[in-house]
Amino acid sequence: MKRDFLSLADLTPAQVRGLLALALKLKAEWASGKNAAPLAGKTLAMIFQKPSLRTRVSFDVGMAQLGGRAVYLSPDEIRLGERESIPDVARVLSRYVDAIMARVFTHDHVVELARWATVPVINGLSDFNHPCQGLADLLTVLEKKGTLYGVKLAYVGDGNNVLHSLLFGAAQTGMHLVAATPKGYEPLDQVVKQAQALAAETGALIYITHDPREAVRGADVIYTDTWTSMGQEAEAAQRRQIFPPYQVNAELVSLAKAEVGVMHCLPAHRGEEITDEIADGPHSWLFDQAENRLHAQKAILADLLKG
Ligand code: CP
Ligand code: NVA
Repeated sequence: MKRDFLSLADLTPAQVRGLLALALKLKAEWASGKNAAPLAGKTLAMIFQKPSLRTRVSFDVGMAQLGGRAVYLSPDEIRLGERESIPDVARVLSRYVDAIMARVFTHDHVVELARWATVPVINGLSDFNHPCQGLADLLTVLEKKGTLYGVKLAYVGDGNNVLHSLLFGAAQTGMHLVAATPKGYEPLDQVVKQAQALAAETGALIYITHDPREAVRGADVIYTDTWTSMGQEAEAAQRRQIFPPYQVNAELVSLAKAEVGVMHCLPAHRGEEITDEIADGPHSWLFDQAENRLHAQKAILADLLKG
């Protein structure tokens, strides 16, 4: 039976820990030059309905490092659901490739792809969540802090797809997550409730507030993301009015633990959700975090495609 990677909530805590351990192993192997090629002869199709730097390059390079290859399909090529129906795209691609990664607007579209594909489907970001980012973020905190259990992460900004995956990731691993968002921009209630239910089993504390200063107090990690996600461009001007109190700047960072790390999934809108001083300063984990997309996704690919 094929498996997909659509949400961190679909996994068990043990499966999340297993993927993190595999990512660390593959990262160490690649660094030491002792790289196996478990995906020799395998092909990944990459469907993009939105732009990308990290997701596109890290999946492409990841497949190559594992001995396989990737085929990039731009938004203009497939026009998912317009030129061709999603079930037809899924069934055709399944005859050519061994896995499909898709970045879509509507989460239901990646779910529908997975329903019809006979090969594993990986969610490369939807309007609902960003599980590859979430796994890379867990990997980054694990490397930096030596554990996830009991670490306090404060998310400051929009209650978006990236926060949804962080909520599931924290709940799965016993990491505490406090999110501060403006009123009306909270994460979906159903996600918070599901994360809190999972958290009851792992010891994670999940808490939502509107006060960024309260959220970052005592935090080991501060995380932010763009105020306007892809697909919400029409709201950008309004969001620029509402979100400034949620900027991650030197003053906010000074309220957290002295050794706090700062994360951002990128792309960053410098001067909006994060200042240059913080993005480029001693607290920044931004580029280690971006690198970990590669290692986390190699683990996802190797796990889904293992014989
Ligand atoms: N963080 C992330 O997914 O980046 P891209 O949009 O560049 O892929
Ligand atoms: N929340 C952002 C993440 C980009 C990687 C978006 O969806 O545009």
